[in-house]
Amino acid sequence: MTNFPRAAVIGNPVSHSLSPKLHGYWLKRYGIEGEYTALQVMEDALETTLRTLPSQGFIGANVTIPHKVNVMQFADKITDRATLIGAANTLTFKEDGRIFADNTDGYGFIANLRQGAPEWDPKRGPAAIFGAGGAARAIIVALADAGVPEIIVANRTRAKAEALRSDFGARVSVVDWVQADKMLEDANTVINTTSLGMVGAHDFKVSLDELSPKAVVTDIVYNPLQTPFLIAAAKKGCTTVDGLGMLLHQGVPGFERWFGKRPDVDDETRRAVLA
Ligand code: ATR
Repeated sequence: MTNFPRAAVIGNPVSHSLSPKLHGYWLKRYGIEGEYTALQVMEDALETTLRTLPSQGFIGANVTIPHKVNVMQFADKITDRATLIGAANTLTFKEDGRIFADNTDGYGFIANLRQGAPEWDPKRGPAAIFGAGGAARAIIVALADAGVPEIIVANRTRAKAEALRSDFGARVSVVDWVQADKMLEDANTVINTTSLGMVGAHDFKVSLDELSPKAVVTDIVYNPLQTPFLIAAAKKGCTTVDGLGMLLHQGVPGFERWFGKRPDVDDETRRAVLA
């Protein structure tokens, strides 16, 4: 066993994850003796892995696709926000092996918006969200928490958007995917949580004609950094915030908990992760 703290990202596949680069950079930057690795874990090996890691010097882990929901059943303590979202992305292992589960995706989303658009006022008007997957759930919880008065969701599969409304209540409303451009008219915050626009995925084709230049627009896709969606919004005069910062900021609470230092997210961090 090592005598320095270890953490990892658990997923399958996991080789694409930027978390090892991010945490590795922070460990080096702050001169902390520790290790952060990527662990490919099959679904049927998840529980055994979680039970074994603490005895190997692991103090925590990030969780990515496809384990974010399943991991909840093995947690001994779950934060309110992870319970609300129904998924966890950050685990801390107690000395006795107990597992503490949190979800920092919503925190990362808000911290990124606040850093990239300091003038952003969540209370000023409705938020319009494209997509209704796991990322949308975390973002809805965070937006509601930040005081957004109304959240409008459009998803290709309408039933998934309806499910969000039944889970998160009256503040959420649903529009048809084919009518999605209509939700932009009064929107103060606009978010793409679909995979549209990502390298190798389909294009984002919804018209942004109705978008007000006062809206703050962000995308969770960060490959490419400037998605066609963000480019179109910038052309309308909107402040845009790319999706890389959400990934960087969601890593902050875990790193602080495991390694005892609250890390900075700045241009140097971005450069290190993109290198
Ligand atoms: P995540 O957890 O990252 O949000 P996800 O749960 O797979 O990932 O969700 C992906 C989102 O992208 C969904 O809202 C999905 O729409 P469906 O619910 O209809 O599947 C959306 N999406 C993916 N491909 C799409 C496409 N070609 N057109 C429209 N929406 C798409």
